[in-house]
Amino acid sequence: MPGVALIGSGSAVPNPILSNHHLTQMVETSDEWVVTRTGIRERRVADSQTSLVDLAVPAARAALTMAGIAPEDLDLIILATSSADDLFGSACRVQAALGANRAVAFDLTAACSGFVFGLATACQFLRTGAYQRVLLIGADILSRWVDWHDRGTCILFGDGAGAVVLQAQAQDQVLGIELGSDGRLNACLNLTYQAQPQTLVPGLVVAQGTYRPIHMDGQEVYRFAVRQVPLTIEKMLFRHSLTPDQVDWLLLHQANQRILNAVAQRLGIPAHKVISNLEHYGNTSAASIPLALDEAVRQGQVQPGQVVVTAGFGAGLTWGAAVFRWGV
Ligand code: COA
Repeated sequence: MPGVALIGSGSAVPNPILSNHHLTQMVETSDEWVVTRTGIRERRVADSQTSLVDLAVPAARAALTMAGIAPEDLDLIILATSSADDLFGSACRVQAALGANRAVAFDLTAACSGFVFGLATACQFLRTGAYQRVLLIGADILSRWVDWHDRGTCILFGDGAGAVVLQAQAQDQVLGIELGSDGRLNACLNLTYQAQPQTLVPGLVVAQGTYRPIHMDGQEVYRFAVRQVPLTIEKMLFRHSLTPDQVDWLLLHQANQRILNAVAQRLGIPAHKVISNLEHYGNTSAASIPLALDEAVRQGQVQPGQVVVTAGFGAGLTWGAAVFRWGV
């Protein structure tokens, strides 16, 4: 069975910066409160002219350039997102913009776990030999769906995109993956459809409408993350005969610095091995892992051959972990 390697990364964020100080003009909060409770100081937000495709495409191009792969060599494009420009999916527009004419393209929605679920999906296609080269993008513009009057949620989220290129090869560098879902906890974090009944003909009422802003029970989600994420990582490492001391980098979904610290502590992974850039971007949902990975690779932190443990968690509720060696 062929193995899988991650051979390139890229990222893109919108230019406008929304700092905690800006938020104090919008809701009753303070820079000190937000920094102490979350570690976030600022986030990027897409202006009204910027589409999800506008962020996904430059992230993808950068990943392809690093990988040395031409768009026409791609077999598959997966766009992990919960905020597509088009409910029918935005992956095909990314495909067209890249000129990846041979590639199959589809969206995948698993909220903040989207990147890890996308990685698992890409690995299936590569390991069966069906495809040779896959572009996986995580991108979200949650600023479209945040209630900017709700100080419990609006402080957390930012916009961005990140991408990786995966290829099939003999040496398998994706050492393990573990996914999970628990729909019983769906009410903790969601962005649900809100229907207005519309009568078509007497006796037949359809529902038309839009989506409610993000709803979150912060404390429940926090508890879930610090309980489930270390358990999942421990299980994954154990199954693949790995130990936390063999991990070079812990790359968690960038939700909250306190969550990152608590998970690292539970796993016994020292703080200097924890990748964190949420101070500048907040929680960018499906983009957060590839965005942080790309920065860490370009800054020379993550080196070829090093072992990275990653984990996404969020709405669904969903969670997923993966352990891989960076590069061929
Ligand atoms: N500024 C100032 N005060 C705020 C505030 C804000 N932005 N948001 C909430 N508060 C207040 C609350 O009203 C509450 O006041 P009260 O005690 O008078 O009722 C107090 O601060 C504590 O609120 P609480 O919700 O207990 O805070 P917390 O320590 O749990 O922190 C979160 C809130 C959202 C930062 C935290 O729960 C969290 O990060 N949860 C995980 C969320 C997450 O990661 N979601 C995405 C997952 S993908």
